[in-house]
Amino acid sequence: MSSAASVPLSQKFKLPNGVEYEQPLGLFINGDFVTGKEGKVFEVINPATAKVVGFVHEATAADVDIAVDAAETAFYDGPWSKMSAADRSKLLLKLADLFEENLTVLASIEAFDNGKSIQLARGDITACIGCLRYYGGWADKIHGKVIETSPESFNYTKQEPIGVCGQIIPWNFPLLMWAWKIGPAIACGNTVVLKTAEQTPLGGLYAAKLCKDAGFPPGVINIISGFGRTAGAAIASHMKIHKVAFTGSTLVGRQIMKAAAESNLKKVTLELGGKSPNIVFEDADIDRAVEWINFGIYYNAGQCCCAGSRIYVQESIYDKVIEAFKKRAEANVVGNPFDETTFQGAQVSEAQYNRIMSYVEIGKEEGATVETGGERHGSEGYFIKPTVFSNVTENMRIMQEEIFGPVCTIAKFKDLEDVINKGNSTAYGLASAVHTRSLGTAMEVANRIRAGTVWVNCYNSIHWALPFGGYGESGIGRELGKEALRNYTQIKTVSINLS
Ligand code: NAI
Ligand code: MG
Repeated sequence: MSSAASVPLSQKFKLPNGVEYEQPLGLFINGDFVTGKEGKVFEVINPATAKVVGFVHEATAADVDIAVDAAETAFYDGPWSKMSAADRSKLLLKLADLFEENLTVLASIEAFDNGKSIQLARGDITACIGCLRYYGGWADKIHGKVIETSPESFNYTKQEPIGVCGQIIPWNFPLLMWAWKIGPAIACGNTVVLKTAEQTPLGGLYAAKLCKDAGFPPGVINIISGFGRTAGAAIASHMKIHKVAFTGSTLVGRQIMKAAAESNLKKVTLELGGKSPNIVFEDADIDRAVEWINFGIYYNAGQCCCAGSRIYVQESIYDKVIEAFKKRAEANVVGNPFDETTFQGAQVSEAQYNRIMSYVEIGKEEGATVETGGERHGSEGYFIKPTVFSNVTENMRIMQEEIFGPVCTIAKFKDLEDVINKGNSTAYGLASAVHTRSLGTAMEVANRIRAGTVWVNCYNSIHWALPFGGYGESGIGRELGKEALRNYTQIKTVSINLS
């Protein structure tokens, strides 16, 4: 057991690929790295080896209070409160530049902390840069309207920032979720207290240092490491936080909403789970469709809210597709995140590894067939072989519940009507995809699938300019694109009597 006294505020780290850098370990509050008020620290584990690689300082409710006070002061009184939108834009663009200069370090931290492959991690950082620049571009283009009612009045609206925003992010895309949350909140002129996931605190702290280097005034961006039940819950129920954005499990999403309702009715956006259908019609380009269904489920080791975990194949091509898909799944390079050829790295934690493996057992008990995988890969760390279940029925738990790992189901469908019914048969509605050469089929599926995103002849084609979010129990609100600006502004109406 380590204590705060023995854990410094930053430390030299050397990563498995030889990258050396100074890793901040403190909480980033009011522009400085500090220890937590309760003097707690917690372990950082490398999921590729299951070894403890260090400790970070832990925030509890007391630190959330301090961070919120700093954020509130920055919002109402500090230089941020008087800064022009153009200058806010410059700061975000500067931060994006710093991410670009530090791409190798940031990607290496992500691979180390989360266990994802370095090639995917670089993709994440590239997307962070795009997202921060995109919102840097929006900062000075957010404005209200003049609305005419009668000659006796002059009315206008302003699109004002909300104030202190609480942001709670998950571990599957630690820095990308950081950028998705920070970008729009800051562009709109808010201040933030962001809690990273306890499994992956490192990248967010390094990015905090980049915020300092970029020149953000103290208190504007506060980044804390800590657990959900303590620091997370304190954010959700805080009386001075007026907006909370959460990405994670549906279970916790409900708790966040309840805490918001029972505290100060802070605005809530939720980006939750999914059980997304990936549909292959008989007229699809089969080779390409197989590539996309493989990428749809095994990308990020299946730890993806929009993972294409329910694959539906039209019956006439089912045997052919399952054969090709099995081969393709087995060809994925699984292993050392720092090996340049690796596609699928480690699952993030022992808990997540166990959760996924328990679903593999559930699937077997429910009578589904393991076509390939279904077991550990290697002998150390949290690696799982790409797994495919066939002989599944709609009511099985592995068909209804989010597994969040490299495990998918593959089932047959008869025709469009049949697959629309099946595709819409879960409580979720985050994403979906259809593979076909028919524009008519693609558009009918796109119209009738109840999901926030529909991909046609592709998968995971997420872009910072495109709104992303869920129907049904997959969430509330949209991230990315211009839509995200709505989450972080409120409309003020001013009506002037001219008579
Ligand atoms: P989680 O929902 O518990 O954790 C996500 C974030 O919420 C973390 O920062 C965590 O510290 C925080 N949190 C947890 N409890 C909280 C509370 N009571 N109040 C405030 N914040 C709280 O997810 P977990 O346990 O890591 O994973 C469980 C399952 O959730 C996964 O198997 C997956 O199905 C789903 N999940 C979905 C994600 C997505 O991208 N939509 C991301 C992570 C998990
Ligand atoms: Mg949890």
